[in-house]
Amino acid sequence: MTETLRPARPSDAPAIARIYVAGWQDAYPGLLPDRLLVGMRRTDGRAERWAGTIRHPARGERIMVAEAGDGTVIGFAGGGPARARGFAYDAEIYTLYVDGDHQEGGVGRRLFSGLALDLARGLGPSLIVWVLAGNPARYFYEALGGRNVGRRAGSLGGAAIEELAFGWPDAAVLAAPHG
Ligand SMILES: CC(C)(COP(=O)(O)OP(=O)(O)OC[C@H]1O[C@@H](n2cnc3c(N)ncnc32)[C@H](O)[C@@H]1OP(=O)(O)O)[C@@H](O)C(=O)NCCC(=O)NCCS
Repeated sequence: MTETLRPARPSDAPAIARIYVAGWQDAYPGLLPDRLLVGMRRTDGRAERWAGTIRHPARGERIMVAEAGDGTVIGFAGGGPARARGFAYDAEIYTLYVDGDHQEGGVGRRLFSGLALDLARGLGPSLIVWVLAGNPARYFYEALGGRNVGRRAGSLGGAAIEELAFGWPDAAVLAAPHG
């Protein structure tokens, strides 16, 4: 796979919305209420909201896409300043989704690392990410060298959820070639 990483453009918003909804419906059954997942639609204004976020990001926020050789967007990642109180991290990756047909080929690793290094340049070296406790993506973060540094309880769509935090004291380690 020879995808290109680049900053998201507003015209990427429909592809981002599609990958986001498919990612939730694929990854979260059993972790989040079925009615929340079944109720998600690509056409419910989600693409317009993503376009708005891309046009007017919050301070320090960045969204990056992975584009296949034919120009198709096959994954995206977003992040910015770390949001959770009580955790002394500079940057946070808020969202990361790879199209189901393109998973397990290293796209997630390259997107995550590329965005993490980009965020580190603007915000500082340390990085945190939160993941639903039952999401196998936690093993992805462990494979990338993240350490489980916290846990929190919350609610989403009326269901109690538990999230785990993975941290990197210095995102520069993600620049090392893998293999
Ligand atoms: C998590 C996700 C982004 C990973 O992307 P990907 O392109 O499939 O991952 P990569 O191919 O880059 O994998 C990188 C490493 O993580 C490991 N990994 C990835 N997913 C894994 C899983 N579910 N279980 C165990 N290991 C996993 C891979 O084996 C690989 O390890 P290696 O390089 O040492 O061989 C992707 O599976 C996804 O979009 N999932 C659905 C949405 C989601 O859960 N996002 C995270 C929200 S917090």
